[in-house]
Amino acid sequence: MTVIVQEPLLEGDEVNQTQIVSEEKRGNGDGPSESDILQLDGGFVTPDSNAFGHSFRDYDKESERRAGVQEFYRINHINQTYEYVLSKREHYGKLDKAVMSIWECCELLNEFVDESDPDLDEPQIEHLLQTAEAIRKDYPNEDWLHLTGLIHDLGKVLLHPSFGEEPQWAAVGDTYPLGCAFDESIVHYEYFNENPDFYNPKYNTKYGVYSEKCGLENVIISWGHDEYMHMVAKMNKTTLPPAALFIIRFHSFYAMHRAGAYTHLMNDEDKEMLEWVKIFNKYDLYSKSKVRVDVEEVKPYYQSLIDKYFPSKLRW
Ligand SMILES: [Fe+2]
Ligand SMILES: [Fe+2]
Repeated sequence: MTVIVQEPLLEGDEVNQTQIVSEEKRGNGDGPSESDILQLDGGFVTPDSNAFGHSFRDYDKESERRAGVQEFYRINHINQTYEYVLSKREHYGKLDKAVMSIWECCELLNEFVDESDPDLDEPQIEHLLQTAEAIRKDYPNEDWLHLTGLIHDLGKVLLHPSFGEEPQWAAVGDTYPLGCAFDESIVHYEYFNENPDFYNPKYNTKYGVYSEKCGLENVIISWGHDEYMHMVAKMNKTTLPPAALFIIRFHSFYAMHRAGAYTHLMNDEDKEMLEWVKIFNKYDLYSKSKVRVDVEEVKPYYQSLIDKYFPSKLRW
């Protein structure tokens, strides 16, 4: 069965590209130490164009898609409320939808062709492996980061009929905290004026239900594939390090990792791990290119990582 993703979407819509491509490249191929993590981008060379030959995330050349993205975020921003996310976490937290391995999930996701992402015209497994392989090249010793690349989008199985066939607005796109004021840096912030939380005094102040430096672990984030995969990995007791779980959970939280918002909720550990998300994001975005990966050739390597960090089948 092939499921076509119908509505336009874009992770991190309307973020500033030049910010990334103008950054100095370094290519020693080693993973960063904690002290130089801020400066390193792992030497990853960003390709000039995406699979369609356009600049990345260029919506001037994709105007019809732009209208779709606006509509996507309008519906997303109206419907993602604090109470809604709590109900989704409760529902999916039962992990009673499927039992399957990481690789089986990659193959299931491969049935999806994301027509809506302007940078990507390949099956999802290509994106996962391109991301993972690009990281592997620059950070050969960080095997946990390679596996993070492979699994970071597996939560998109939320769109699959056997997982509830969630609508796009409940599975993809940028994510943001609920339970406190929406930051103006969130993509299409203007649409929050139709979200009931926007008018709820419990949820519409700077701290809302949270306290200063409470830690992002304690913050409710809009529901989507990041949150679901984080839940699956954590509840199945993966031995991946905390930074991997942080990347999985927050890779679409552009208001934090691109715009620098919500630092008042972050603790010191969050601020350290944020640097890994920034590194990861470059590979997530720019590996969406025409560089094809030979799935069968690299599969044994990734299977060995799966065996290491997820020794048994997972409950989803
Ligand atoms: Fe993603
Ligand atoms: Fe991704």
